[in-house]
Order: sequence, then structure tokens, then C-alpha cells
Amino acid sequence: MAERRDGAPEDQGEAERRELPTVADTEALGRELAAELRPGDLVVLDGPLGAGKTALTRGIAAGLGVEGRVSSPTFIIARQHRAGAAPGSIPLVHVDAYRLGGDLDELDALDLDADLHESVVVVEWGLGVVEHLADRHLRVRLHREAESETRTATWEWVGQY
Ligand SMILES: Nc1ncnc2c1ncn2[C@@H]1O[C@H](COP(=O)(O)OP(=O)(O)O)[C@@H](O)[C@H]1O
Ligand SMILES: [Mg+2]
Repeated sequence: MAERRDGAPEDQGEAERRELPTVADTEALGRELAAELRPGDLVVLDGPLGAGKTALTRGIAAGLGVEGRVSSPTFIIARQHRAGAAPGSIPLVHVDAYRLGGDLDELDALDLDADLHESVVVVEWGLGVVEHLADRHLRVRLHREAESETRTATWEWVGQY
């Protein structure tokens, strides 16, 4: 679990919460969250396998207007999506921290073409691993109910503003 260096409580303010009956709802939430995102922002996605982290990222990518199809970065650790033609489009770096093995410095060592300060960085399995990369991050947790397609998302900005 993440620990804040200054010892402040983990959860500041109220997390927002929404039920997501279908994968389209999850993608729609991603598009909505993308509207809040600016270059340099970090998004940390938490939730078990199949919870919808990649589906949410697909929505974020659509909202940011980036190029390329979003798929699980599991086998390549990080996938870069260039900004699209639409005005205001922001590049996306989609990371799977599962493969980072908890090494806090490895994201820098990936030697990405993309400038992380110019991009939105979305990290699956990033909880407790990548928070130090930015002063604040958008933390999204996806819960999956047994025997149901419905996911529940909770999200909040954590850190300094
Ligand atoms: N409400 C929902 N939200 C997100 N995904 C859903 C939902 N209902 C069913 N699914 C399915 O669950 C799977 C989620 O996969 P994925 O987004 O790759 O999860 P993760 O990246 O968390 O492992 C997809 O096959 C998707 O179609
Ligand atoms: Mg995934």
C-alpha cells in the first residue's frame, strides 16, 4: 500500500463513486475523467485482473484524442500513444506496473520517447509503486462484483494541488 512521506492521511476528501453496468459505461467514465487531465498528470489504476483498468484507459485515450488502439501493455510494460489531430489532444503513456516489479526508478529507465511532463501517464497496477512520480495523482479503484458484469469505480485526486 502507498504511504505518504509526510504522514498525512491517505485519503483526502471524498472519493467519487459510480456503478458501471457495462464496459461502455467504464469507457464513458474514462472519457469523462480525461476532460480533467492535463499534461504531466498521473493516473493510478487499481483493481484485480479483469476489473476494467484497460477498458477505462481506452476511454481515457478516446477522451484525450490520442492515436493508436489501447490494449493491455502487459507484455511491453509501456505503450505510447501520440497526440491526435484534434486541438488540445494530449499524448498518453500507458504503463503496466505489474511488470515494473515495484522498482520505483524503472519508469524513468524505460527511456520513453514521450516527455512525461507533456503526457498523461496512466499506470495499471500502479498503487504504491508510482505515486512519487508526481506531486498528485488521480487514483481510480475498480471493484468487480462476483457473478455480475457491473463494476464499481471510486476515484479521487490524492496529493498536493
Ligand atoms: N462493467 C464493465 N466494465 C469494464 N469491463 C467490463 C464490464 N463488464 C464486462 N467487462 C469485461 O471485462 C473485461 C475487463 O478487462 P480489462 O479492461 O482488460 O481489465 P483489467 O485491465 O483490469 O485486467 C473486458 O473483457 C470487458 O469487456
Ligand atoms: Mg489491463
